[in-house]
Amino acid sequence: MSQTIATAPTGNSADRGSLLRASMARRASAVEAAIDSLLPPVPGSEGRVVDAMRYATLGGGKRLRGYLAAEVASLFGVAESGAYRVAASVEMLHAYSLVHDDLPAMDDDDLRRGQPSTHRKFDEATAILAGDALQTMAFEILADTATHPDAVVRIGLVAALAAASGAAGMVGGQMIDMEGEGRALALQDVERLHALKTGCLIRYSAESGAILGNADLSVRSRIAAYGRDLGAAFQIADDVLDATASAEELGKTAGKDQAAGKSTYVALLGVDGAAREARRVAEQAESHLDIFGTEADRLRDLIRYVVDRRS
Ligand code: IPE
Ligand code: IPE
Ligand code: MG
Ligand code: MG
Ligand code: MG
Repeated sequence: MSQTIATAPTGNSADRGSLLRASMARRASAVEAAIDSLLPPVPGSEGRVVDAMRYATLGGGKRLRGYLAAEVASLFGVAESGAYRVAASVEMLHAYSLVHDDLPAMDDDDLRRGQPSTHRKFDEATAILAGDALQTMAFEILADTATHPDAVVRIGLVAALAAASGAAGMVGGQMIDMEGEGRALALQDVERLHALKTGCLIRYSAESGAILGNADLSVRSRIAAYGRDLGAAFQIADDVLDATASAEELGKTAGKDQAAGKSTYVALLGVDGAAREARRVAEQAESHLDIFGTEADRLRDLIRYVVDRRS
């Protein structure tokens, strides 16, 4: 358990940047391997939905949510076998949200992670079913004793993921996002939209590591606050990238928020104003880590990565 006295972060920023990249690459491979083994192909007609689930989850994505789960778990000395199951679970839940977000009834997007979106590769019915089954599988993984031997920890993870992803979380945010199309939402409404559609799941991702590690409530709430602010900064950066990056960089269609009349930070504050706001919120995220010493440096460096990224 790492309830340590704060020490100043060490190392120059170039070293720190390459340490973060190496750490993210290592954890991304472990998340990929965990998903691959939890979701093997199956024969028979239902094999098609499993193929679509594998298509939507394997071979791409930044794995930010899985990284957070595994990195925070490591702060608390959690066994990697359980941590990567939790990381795979949240990446499945996230992939379901992307499959459904891309459907014609929602953002109607043809490109995801540099490939045709799942409904374009398969068909709409298969994409809907693959999203549904990825969602239930995320919970099935958490409920399994292989994730953690203590049922109180497992139910804590299930309850936290359910709250983060349902109508009071990601799904609620997606509803506000759809309702906001073609309307000028006020800044505080867009802030809430971001907090729900993206912030809740990123907050959960960080918090899941603290739940797995049986962290004290006061420590868990610091991690949760860090995740919440990191998630808010992440979605503002996503809005900025939609307006400024290319489809090649993003692996998804660029410029689609303005075309769809979405209420975004860029629409309200302009690109420079939104980028400034992302930095301000990101700095807030760092303040919640002041109870930790250098063992939380990767989490600190992730804040800069989230706002400086180009994909
Ligand atoms: C995209 O999330 C959807 C948002 C919440 C902005 P990511 O940018 O994390 O997508 P992947 O997982 O890296 O593809
Ligand atoms: C989607 O937000 C957030 C989800 C809950 C999936 P966006 O619609 O901005 O995500 P992208 O830009 O398509 O990845
Ligand atoms: Mg959307
Ligand atoms: Mg979208
Ligand atoms: Mg977007």
